[in-house]
Amino acid sequence: MSITLDPHSYANFNDVIVTHYSINLRTDFPNKVFHGYVDVTAKVISDQSSELFLDVKSLVVRRVTDYDNNDDLISWATIESNINGTCLTIYVPHEKRSVGSEFTVRIEYSTTPESESIQWLEPSQTAGKIYPYCYTQCEAILARTLLPCQDTPAVKAPYTITVSCPEPLVAACSGISLNNEPIVETNGYLSYSFNQPNPVPAYLIALVVGKLEQGRIGPRSSVYTEKELLDRAIYEFSEDTENYICACEEITGIKYKWGVYDMVVLPSAFPYGGMENPNLTFLSASLLAGDRSLTNVVAHEIVHSWSGNLITNASWSDFWLNEGFTVYIERMVLGKVAKSVQYRHFEILCGYNDLKKTLVALKDQPEFTKLVPNLDGINPDDAFSKIPYEKGSLFLFYLETLVGGEMSMQRWLNSYFCTFAGKSLNTNDMVKHFCNHFSTIEAIKTIDWNTWLHGAGLPPFDPTTVLDKTLSTNCTDLARSWLDNDGKTATCDGLKGFRSEQVMFFLDEIITGTVDGLHHDALDRMKSLYKLSESPNVEINFRWLQLCLKSKYLDVIPQAADFLSKHGRGLYVKPLYKALNGVDHKVAVEIYNKNRPYYHSVIRSVFDKDLEYNEN
Ligand code: BES
Ligand code: ZN
Repeated sequence: MSITLDPHSYANFNDVIVTHYSINLRTDFPNKVFHGYVDVTAKVISDQSSELFLDVKSLVVRRVTDYDNNDDLISWATIESNINGTCLTIYVPHEKRSVGSEFTVRIEYSTTPESESIQWLEPSQTAGKIYPYCYTQCEAILARTLLPCQDTPAVKAPYTITVSCPEPLVAACSGISLNNEPIVETNGYLSYSFNQPNPVPAYLIALVVGKLEQGRIGPRSSVYTEKELLDRAIYEFSEDTENYICACEEITGIKYKWGVYDMVVLPSAFPYGGMENPNLTFLSASLLAGDRSLTNVVAHEIVHSWSGNLITNASWSDFWLNEGFTVYIERMVLGKVAKSVQYRHFEILCGYNDLKKTLVALKDQPEFTKLVPNLDGINPDDAFSKIPYEKGSLFLFYLETLVGGEMSMQRWLNSYFCTFAGKSLNTNDMVKHFCNHFSTIEAIKTIDWNTWLHGAGLPPFDPTTVLDKTLSTNCTDLARSWLDNDGKTATCDGLKGFRSEQVMFFLDEIITGTVDGLHHDALDRMKSLYKLSESPNVEINFRWLQLCLKSKYLDVIPQAADFLSKHGRGLYVKPLYKALNGVDHKVAVEIYNKNRPYYHSVIRSVFDKDLEYNEN
């Protein structure tokens, strides 16, 4: 029993596999819980299977009944638990135990305030300040805290989901809306229903409830957000969204198959920049820079409609198949939409800097710097970093240089997506498919698969030797002048004509180019010349704070505290608290405890240990 097919799930999907979920939930804002049920349909795969194993965590299961058979009670038990959660065992009705039989059980349950996928926000934590708000984030292994499910990316199933909430709140979910207007229930609640007809992993099930409004941004797209943010959101995303979708269709040679592509702009407490929930990408409000400079996140989430949602990593050790592929294609999309190979190359170079920054941060955790890490006994969220993104996409770019360039790779991607659409894949499946497709190309014999896939640290390929540097040269030169002579000759013209991405690149060059940052008088000078902390671009603010903290420049602490009270994205708050902790532990603890209620559980679970949070 303890030996499972996926180290992060109890699901026995080789015996009995879920084929459909029908989810029905009602919000209870005062108690911060959902009440409801899920009808789980499952199919027997191996003969005489008598049990269906589902994952649950922080849920209260009340009753299980036989949906096909006058709601007869069905026996169930929770037999085993580990750090990932509990195995909910459901005994398959006797007459359904032969191969090929399908059965449906109704599981009545509630979530609890400890359910980690759900963040409940007080009215004061929203833009409108009047209504409460809640949203879910299930990747990687938190779907089990929202509903009983086979919470492994190896299992993919379609679902329907209905959420009811008090008027005038609006609910939206990761599927196609089934009603133009919500249905008014007898208790006055409004109910919203969505259908996800495609088989997807449980981590893509998502819902959001708040005082949301909707604005159109493209022929198949609209954006949901609070009305205070709606105009800004429409401006930010209306220009590029459809272009990105079309570019993906051209690059992969496969039409967008999900119908609508909507998005919701969530409060900046959201722990990620974006999350590719099907039909409804979740985005952080921190992307609203006012100049469309952060829409690459939208391109990224759109690409997941192919890599991730159509083809899914079979286990969390294969996460690079989701993220590395997505970043690789994202940069093709950005290059195509900007009609600029130089821009694609610039983005790849930025990614290489990010990879180097991440390798420094992970120097004590070499296992997590492998493309295919061993995650037995480890929560995938604890291993989360830019490695699968940047090492993965760099690997694909390296392969591109061997097989004859971007167009060859696009033809392969087309075959890859056609072959595996709807399936879950491991790294071996991908490698085999690649080698078959390119079997006539001599150069692929030189690939050191083992080092790339299983080696720690920097991979055996330096992209800077082949990349076009038109867009980065100025940034590198300017960074050099600060590194070599503290910017004494710099003028406020230094950043003139730089796009936001180039300012970020410039800062990254300095951050990675020094061991302990810049002199404080250099930072004083940079502050008054460039005013980086006043930039509306959160990526620039973040890098400025990172550089200052690396330099132990304490003047920046109030700004860091302000930033940390407004942003909950892990990619920013994790390095900033780490740096702050290195500068002044007491201050870090103080700032953390003040901001903790604003952070999602995946962030809290990282810091509660390190920053000595205790409930009293
Ligand atoms: N799927 C991820 C977010 C995620 C990963 C959530 C793992 C939970 C566990 C999403 O597509 C993503 O990669 N977001 C990035 C976007 C960036 C790379 C453009 C983010 O939020 O930083
Ligand atoms: Zn992603």
